[in-house]
Amino acid sequence: MKDRVIKPATNLRGEIKLPGDKSISHRALILSSIADGDCRITGLSNAEDVKNTKKCLQALGVSITKEKKSIVVHGRGMDSMKESGKILDAGNSGTTLRLLSGILAAQNFTTTITGDESLQKRPMRRIIEPLELMGAQIESQAFKAPLKIRGNLLKAIDYASPVASAQVKSCILLAGLYAKGITRITEPSESRNHTELMLKEFQASIQFSAGMAGIKGPFQLKATDIDVPGDISAAAFFLVAGCLLKDSEIIMPNVGVNPTRTGILDALVSMNAPIQKSEYIVLNNEPREKLVTRSGILMPTHLSGSIIPRIIDEIPILAIAATQANGSTTIKDAGELRVKESDRITTVVENLKKMKANIREIKDGMIIDGPTPLKGAEIDSYGDHRIAMAFSIAGLLAEGETLVKNTDCVETSFPGFYDILESLRHD
Ligand code: S3P
Repeated sequence: MKDRVIKPATNLRGEIKLPGDKSISHRALILSSIADGDCRITGLSNAEDVKNTKKCLQALGVSITKEKKSIVVHGRGMDSMKESGKILDAGNSGTTLRLLSGILAAQNFTTTITGDESLQKRPMRRIIEPLELMGAQIESQAFKAPLKIRGNLLKAIDYASPVASAQVKSCILLAGLYAKGITRITEPSESRNHTELMLKEFQASIQFSAGMAGIKGPFQLKATDIDVPGDISAAAFFLVAGCLLKDSEIIMPNVGVNPTRTGILDALVSMNAPIQKSEYIVLNNEPREKLVTRSGILMPTHLSGSIIPRIIDEIPILAIAATQANGSTTIKDAGELRVKESDRITTVVENLKKMKANIREIKDGMIIDGPTPLKGAEIDSYGDHRIAMAFSIAGLLAEGETLVKNTDCVETSFPGFYDILESLRHD
């Protein structure tokens, strides 16, 4: 396990190329696998999580090849998957396991899918219940992976999800592609809508608005090419670093700015961060923009309610930003953080306390009083990629060295993170 020593930085300057959006990359691979022809994907993320989706699809008989600048998925239709002789391994990726389960529930064979130690602890009842209502049979121990999914002829359902989760919503929509009739899902608050937008691009009969989606099945997706924008969740670390370090300017072209993902921009702007946007374009229904972040003096903010699903992956780095804001920041309604790759409420609070931040854990979030000078410390990533990266950025601001333990997990979403960080340092 690789530990990293992070030395304080004076500033960060330069232009960077971000990896392809992880959420969109998973969906591009999965939808094109069941489309009716070849699909070329450009800008696909090279993250470990996405590689795991690709490996699972290949184990189900999907042919995926490489062309100069793209990946070609040779879709052979919605019923083209074959029983895999082995257990599918989603690794650390909840998206892989939950989205693929929706498709596996409709196959005429049985599949076992599992993941690493962290994924085996995460809640799966949220997908097991609706998939069983649709007619699948799923065996598990206490609703945790491994899941043994016996596929079936599915029926459409009307489902009110108790959680705002794009993984749950997408799982049900993918199963709904195979079910006869209209499968509807509502959620308590709007989660990211990449699946809906991409299903539209593959010409599915889908309707959706904030907090609800309905799909008509069975439907054979029509092959199309997909270009994946840069990942705003990866940009988040540099958006914050650029604001917090003096005399900094970081330029990030082609970042995905789907409004269901831009909570990080709204939160930072509400904190007075000078973020500039330009060069807006839309491709495959997904908007993209060039983002430029510069040093600023941050104000505190209050984050709760409907913004939470829009910043769910960015809360660790926003908590670091809040330690430098002039006053008290509260983050509430974020109980979902407890069932991510680590319990991100506890792992953020524990680690920030080690750095001498003024932070308090509450049931569904945290309260941070700033500004406090951070002190270098020994940080545990708990094997969680976003904790490793958020605290590597915190280390740049701290007095003295910060040791971030177990940083291999960064590969999960952002291979090349440390090289990019190095390229921006000029001290
Ligand atoms: C994701 C949805 C979110 C997010 C995860 C990726 C997706 O999870 O935290 O990193 O690609 O659908 P939930 O849907 O469980 O909130």
